[in-house]
Amino acid sequence: MEVVIVAGPSAAGALIADQIEHLVRSKPNAAIGLATGSSPLEIYRSLIERYRTGRLSFAQSSMYMLDEYVGLPEGHDQSYRAFLHTELLNHLDVPSERLFGPNVHADDPRVACAEYEARLAASPIDLQILGVGSDGHIGFNEPTSSLSSRTRVKTLTRQTRQDNARFFDSIDDVPHHVITQGIGTILDAGHVVLIACGTGKASAVVRLVEGPLTAMFPASALQLHPHATVVVDEAAAGMLQLAEYYRDVYANRPAWQKLPDLTDNQANNGLQ
Ligand code: F6R
Repeated sequence: MEVVIVAGPSAAGALIADQIEHLVRSKPNAAIGLATGSSPLEIYRSLIERYRTGRLSFAQSSMYMLDEYVGLPEGHDQSYRAFLHTELLNHLDVPSERLFGPNVHADDPRVACAEYEARLAASPIDLQILGVGSDGHIGFNEPTSSLSSRTRVKTLTRQTRQDNARFFDSIDDVPHHVITQGIGTILDAGHVVLIACGTGKASAVVRLVEGPLTAMFPASALQLHPHATVVVDEAAAGMLQLAEYYRDVYANRPAWQKLPDLTDNQANNGLQ
């Protein structure tokens, strides 16, 4: 696992936006997995800025949802589909029909889950953005989720509903159920990139990076992935035992591990 420690949230967002820019330049029809919540917002701001300045185009890319609430009316402003449109897609040139997600309004959610799995199997995600919940969930794989789980309906813990109540009038309005990519599904992405900032994430970060691999802390499953990057700010890195080592590894990474310089000149080559 690659752990990158940066000064603050905007540097974390910019660093991951660099990775996405590099991906989309080398593969314009890339499949990008999107998370919701507060953590990825700086990434999305940075991507929007790159698109606005004519540096990057997503016209051929496809976006894939990590999870979605079950039980909200279609078009509800707290649905994750609405969130992703508001925070990202409305500001980019990716066609809106190329945001794919599970059909949470299907009569039989199990069929919707199987269909989403089939879609992901046909177009594997190149880069999956993740945040981490205070109980270690990734997507909405709550503690004790099988580390090889696939897309399915999950019941949220009281803690997660409490954490997300800030987006609703009250906790009673937060749905109990979601459809989420499974941990096994997430691990199928070519590259998984988790962002975590602020002291509130420090204990989750140390458990996911340095703790034991356990279904009690689903994010620890990233330890199994051959290409996982965890980008944290100083505050979220506060409990890492090997922080100095991670800094040293990153500062001394070999040239072939560095992203090529993304100059304006390259930006205008063939992407717009
Ligand atoms: C969001 C998601 C969740 C969040 C996690 C952290 O699509 O799947 O796993 O990433 O709950 O949320 P924030 O970033 O709001 O702290």
